[in-house]
Amino acid sequence: MTQRFYVTTPIYYVNGSPHIGHAYTSVVADALTRYHRLRGQRARFLTGTDEHGQKIEREAVKAGMAPQAFVDDVSQRFRGLWPKLGVQPDDFIRTTEARHVAGVQKWWRKVRDAGDLYKGSYKGLYCVACEGYKTEKELLPGNLCPIHERPVEERAEETWLFRLSKYQDRLLKLYEEHPEFVLPETRRNEIVSFVQGGLEDLSVSRSNFTWGIPVPDDPGHVIYVWFDALFNYLTAVDETPERAFWPPQIQLVAKDIVRFHTVYWPAFLMSAGFERAQLPTTIWTHGYLLSGGRKTSKTPGLTAVKTSGTTDPVRIADVLGADVLRFYLLREVSFGQDGEFSIPGIIGRARAELGETVGNLLHRALPFVGKYFDGRVPEVKDESLTETERTLRARVATLVTEAGAAWDTLTMHRALELTIEVARTANRYFDETAPWKLAKSDDRTRLGVVIAHVLEIVRVVAVMLSPVTPTKSEELLHQLGLGALTPTEDTDLWPTQWGGLLVNTVVRPGPPVFPKYDPPTEAAMLLSLDVRDAEPATEKSPPKNKGPMSTDEKPATESPAAVPTTAAVAPAAPAAPAAVTAEEASAIIAYDDFAKVDLRVGKVLTAEKIPRKDKLLKLSVDLGEASGPRTIIAGIALAFPVVEELVGQQVVVVANLAPRDFGKGLVSHGMLLAASSPESLSLATFAKPYAAGTRVK
Ligand code: MSP
Repeated sequence: MTQRFYVTTPIYYVNGSPHIGHAYTSVVADALTRYHRLRGQRARFLTGTDEHGQKIEREAVKAGMAPQAFVDDVSQRFRGLWPKLGVQPDDFIRTTEARHVAGVQKWWRKVRDAGDLYKGSYKGLYCVACEGYKTEKELLPGNLCPIHERPVEERAEETWLFRLSKYQDRLLKLYEEHPEFVLPETRRNEIVSFVQGGLEDLSVSRSNFTWGIPVPDDPGHVIYVWFDALFNYLTAVDETPERAFWPPQIQLVAKDIVRFHTVYWPAFLMSAGFERAQLPTTIWTHGYLLSGGRKTSKTPGLTAVKTSGTTDPVRIADVLGADVLRFYLLREVSFGQDGEFSIPGIIGRARAELGETVGNLLHRALPFVGKYFDGRVPEVKDESLTETERTLRARVATLVTEAGAAWDTLTMHRALELTIEVARTANRYFDETAPWKLAKSDDRTRLGVVIAHVLEIVRVVAVMLSPVTPTKSEELLHQLGLGALTPTEDTDLWPTQWGGLLVNTVVRPGPPVFPKYDPPTEAAMLLSLDVRDAEPATEKSPPKNKGPMSTDEKPATESPAAVPTTAAVAPAAPAAPAAVTAEEASAIIAYDDFAKVDLRVGKVLTAEKIPRKDKLLKLSVDLGEASGPRTIIAGIALAFPVVEELVGQQVVVVANLAPRDFGKGLVSHGMLLAASSPESLSLATFAKPYAAGTRVK
């Protein structure tokens, strides 16, 4: 029977826009789903939004909106984020949907009928941000919530209480007999000692506000938001054919909500009649993404943003590409630990491991296929194999198996490390066998063996990366002459078998799969993602792989042919990465939207370098305005070592952008348009002179 895999993320509060922390959990869930499908399993991935409760009600009031209109709007922002990140949930549940409301009331009745709900009163200290009571000993000085560092509110209310205390022993037995229920182990230890410390009955209704699901048969109360929210995992599949997926194998949560998921949630389910086999298999707690040492949140600190860059996942994906961001999130952070997030970090990883290792491998080998094998994958006869190939294949097989095991234990950073090691191994093999020399020596058989091995390893790596970089993997496979992966139930596509790339396959060499992060492009990327003070990642890059990329021993680089693209070089506009995705290319805007951009002819009056800002130039640009020339700070310094060349040049200026403050008195009042390729950057200009300020349309 086909194995099933059901993974969930927490449902996100709609009290603010999504940020990189939310994206993180969903990217992980998406990658896990893709991995399990690749292995022939039936996988289902659920995410959604948590829309009830006092916190949301207060935000709606602040926004001057009715709660339903408010949650509709914010929920849509979450839903709209996923396609931009290549995240494809099978279902997106909202707690204000009828299916969920009816489901929660059904499960409430079950718990009530089991005798686990009773009316009483509750007095305690409530944190609205957590939507939970705190004990006095948990609080920070000044009665502050330890998680949100905000004052708790004293509450005394008539409430429905859930007999949580009754489940203490059953919960402890669950943790003991099924240690996999709470992972990683450190979290289990914390939870076990919390439950051993004694459980009080839990207040599960509210009567001081109305934005929630009404308590069945008691209209003065709404159901506590956590009782409501936790049941989403069940209501999404309950009474549908997808119920077969129940129970979830992996429920992802961050550490602030581990108690709700590992204590309250199983207790609610036990009360509703669920036996162990019907409880979630594992609640997996991951760490926080930090920015400048602090948890990324809806209101990131200014200092963090200055050095680490924006935490808006959409802007990051627009500039750097979704796959590159996904790779970084899974590769950089040891899953389960906190991890520092930074834009220079993303670029550094992408360049060193995707561009200079994986992309490099493909683009080193392909030119040989065109030149010596008529564009087709060369044949390899068993008798032509040497000890070197046998060792290489054995090493790759070991790495592929180990990487699979790492995915199975949710050590994705390790799985990706092993994946990159496969590509590194092949780059070393390429260096050692020196196909450019073999080509000169006319030993076509040996040359064919080497090139076929390298190409097969590119296939292996593309498949291994595909849960994380689905689009880029498809591009790699396409250039190898292969079609997209089509996971099918019961067929394991994990590349444990050597030889998926068949002899005579016609390769399709194309543009570089991963952009080359050369200094001007990188500087523009950093600027447009709000990184002000960080050193560019280029300077911290590990050494490149050595070896030629053409058949004539040119220096190693990923790109056989530069692909020019347009790039904005001043702040606030995203610089396009070298490869433009089909989705980006087809994003049509109305003329009215275009007309909002005020483009003007400008004339550069002065240009100067800025001390200690290698990438920036300060320009004074005449736009024919009565107020005088404008100061524009542009990230083009590396392309213009002789700044005087710029003086007198006609440029195209985006004149109606909000000013951008670079700190230390540097404020930019506009942006220049430019085109850039991995090799060069030039400013947009005109063949004939026009008066400064002429409108460009
Ligand atoms: N609504 C509750 C969850 C209810 S689940 C039945 C909630 N929502 S939340 O909007 O605060 O999102 C919490 C989840 O978002 C975290 O558990 C985590 O998965 C993700 N993250 C939010 N910020 C994060 C970081 N800075 N780092 C990592 N993950 C983060 O709690």
